Amino acid sequence: MVNIKLSHSSSFYVCSHFNPHKNFILQKIYLDHNATTPIHPEVLEVMLPVMREFFGNPSSIHSEGRKARVFLDEAREQVADLIGATPGEIIFTSGGTESNNMVLLGVALSRQKNYGRIITCEIEHPSILNPCKQLEQLGLKIDCLPVNPKGRIDLERLEETIQDSTVLISLQHSNSEVGTLQDIEKIGEISRENPVTFHTDAVQSVGKIPVDVKNFSVDFLSISSHKLNGPKGVGALFMKRGLPALFSTQSGGNQEKKRRGGTENVAAIVGFGKACELAKTKLESGAMNSLANLRDYFFQRIKALVPGIELLGDKKFRLPNTLNLSIDGADGGTLLIGLDVEGISVSTGSACSSGSSLPSHVLTAMQVPERRINSSLRFSLGILNTREELDIVAKTLARLVPLNRKNTIAVA
Ligand SMILES: Cc1ncc(COP(=O)(O)O)c(C=O)c1O
Repeated sequence: MVNIKLSHSSSFYVCSHFNPHKNFILQKIYLDHNATTPIHPEVLEVMLPVMREFFGNPSSIHSEGRKARVFLDEAREQVADLIGATPGEIIFTSGGTESNNMVLLGVALSRQKNYGRIITCEIEHPSILNPCKQLEQLGLKIDCLPVNPKGRIDLERLEETIQDSTVLISLQHSNSEVGTLQDIEKIGEISRENPVTFHTDAVQSVGKIPVDVKNFSVDFLSISSHKLNGPKGVGALFMKRGLPALFSTQSGGNQEKKRRGGTENVAAIVGFGKACELAKTKLESGAMNSLANLRDYFFQRIKALVPGIELLGDKKFRLPNTLNLSIDGADGGTLLIGLDVEGISVSTGSACSSGSSLPSHVLTAMQVPERRINSSLRFSLGILNTREELDIVAKTLARLVPLNRKNTIAVA
């Protein structure tokens, strides 16, 4: 039985596993913030009254509807404020996946007969790569750029790939698995000069590092609430003012100025707005520098205690919270389970534990050898992780890795 408690103590959440066999509560150390983040108590606090009392439909004219509309407007301002947009440029969606689909399918299908070409890259999230595959079946051409061993695209190659028929460049800002950042300002410049519509999937960046749609020169930008301590199932698409209407992939009522039909999830949107407001304060306070320091401290501790560690991704151009390590001779999947039993949550790029039959497409595209992929672990920190927690994790790894290596060699 999993028992999640909310508390305002050292961590703003305490995730406990009740173990019926040992009959004690294990406190978890959560290091998987790129997968999802715990909801911030202040976010929950603003959502509860909306669910309890303010149930109106924001499209209704009566007072309940008007109240719900006010909540939506406030949240739209909070989201816009975090990324330097105006409220009218924010379309609420059900999350990063929908925002990405909305742009790719919307831009391509707006072209009707001649779909043209889309440029993307090999390490994008499946919510980019899979709609691209669908569009390919409809006759659209996808130019999928390779990445170097650190996970960055070659900007010259990007420029060479642009053709007259290119309708969209969709390149992620940061990668969820290794945290590598693309040079998004430069990509924005290239898109403007050529000119091609430019979308970036900034789901992993927003809330972790400063994101400003004007500095990026983007036309579209995707955000997801649950990556920044907001609720799940809600997100947004920034769509620059003045762009032609997109072919609507979710058509229905007149919600979101006819850009996305369906009654809005008001409580979730209110929580998302609050999460954005809190993220802005956090970014302004420099919390992210402390997070990068904490991550680097953790890396040094692991390196000192566990031989055969290799950092995957770009050491310089990287999210401040992400550390993807390959642990030579170990099996990432088994280590993940061992750590989980010890109360530590991480993730891995190996196939067996990521719910996929294939090893990480990101690490594969970065030409990481299969042996290294199978031994990879991703640690993604949150601002409330502490040095004490990371010391525990480093020591636990130092204990588990030699056993794991022995078993891995025995199986091989
Ligand atoms: C880079 C990136 N894009 C998109 C998504 C999908 O976001 P959501 O879970 O809100 O659909 C994720 C989720 O992990 C992601 O990491």
